[in-house]
Amino acid sequence: MRLCVLGGDGIGPEVTAAALEVLQASGLEFTPEAAQIGFGAYEQTGQSFPDATAAAIERADAALLGAVTTPPGIKGYRSPILQMRQRFALYANLRPCLSLPHESCRPGIDLVIVRENTEGLYSGRERVEDGGDTAITERVITRAASERIVRFACERARGRLARKVTIVHKANVLRESDGLFRRVALEVAHGYPGLEVEELIVDACAMHLLKRPTDFDVIVTTNLFGDILSDEACMLVGGLGLACSANLGESAAVFEPVHGSAPDIAGQGKANPLAAIRSAALLLDHVGEAERAERVRAAVAGALEAGEVTPDLGGALDTAGATQAVVSRL
Ligand code: NAI
Ligand code: MG
Repeated sequence: MRLCVLGGDGIGPEVTAAALEVLQASGLEFTPEAAQIGFGAYEQTGQSFPDATAAAIERADAALLGAVTTPPGIKGYRSPILQMRQRFALYANLRPCLSLPHESCRPGIDLVIVRENTEGLYSGRERVEDGGDTAITERVITRAASERIVRFACERARGRLARKVTIVHKANVLRESDGLFRRVALEVAHGYPGLEVEELIVDACAMHLLKRPTDFDVIVTTNLFGDILSDEACMLVGGLGLACSANLGESAAVFEPVHGSAPDIAGQGKANPLAAIRSAALLLDHVGEAERAERVRAAVAGALEAGEVTPDLGGALDTAGATQAVVSRL
């Protein structure tokens, strides 16, 4: 197995190194190949997402990404994450939220947010009119992308215990765009006989997530709504220090912690590696190593339970110590 390792900027390289150690300790046999991404890559090569990096992702079975720094106002700087998503059509953004044994987690939650990652309000189609006093962003919804993401969500749900899909939209107001998303989503979901299917308006969903988070299983929604709901949901289960994610497409799969490059603590050994380690567990799931993935998740839970974690989670360990706490349990 070939893994592309994209450390990126700030604490990115620190937490991906920790995740690699854990993958090794899980007994997975793999060849890592490091590649550059982010602001550091831009400073060295003039590209935030160099062609060599795209080629390395293409060669790999999966990629592990740390984080990138967004530099303030450099003309012509393009977000490497957006470039990567476009280049590999990473259409599904997956954010599992699972209760772990830690005081920052509400109990009994096991849900996954599946977010459409290529269109919606992040279509990139923007313009100004009226001498700059009116700004317009087009919200693009297509049947093809809606079908693809809902199918993906239903396939996920099929393999889970609760087998439930919640379709989230705002079709009562966004009558055309979310009208289409809703119609297509219901059509696709009803083609899966074993699934429980429900729909929720996005603002109601935001409330219900806080009120009754344990009722949710798989949530599927459009780009912006998924972005916001997934940040909300991750705060129910420990927040940035634990939140993991996957970006999946037909030809590539990239796994990354939700947090950014945390320049305020970079290079000080303070970074909590658990979000990156949990992203590596998602990678294991993806490459058909579900048993190893479960062992990694159990080791993370064990470390949390023992309080063998970094200060952001109330522990006293540094990055290396918190990584060892997981490795030793494997
Ligand atoms: P951030 O997630 O990097 O940091 C927010 C706060 O959480 C900071 O106080 C940081 O020290 C702390 N934190 C984050 N991850 C941590 C970890 N693993 N262990 C301990 N503490 C942690 O978000 P912020 O500060 O808004 O952005 C910093 C840079 O990261 C920016 O350039 C931003 O554009 C970029 N960013 C990149 C993302 C990505 O690569 N996908 C996602 C979010 C932000
Ligand atoms: Mg976000």
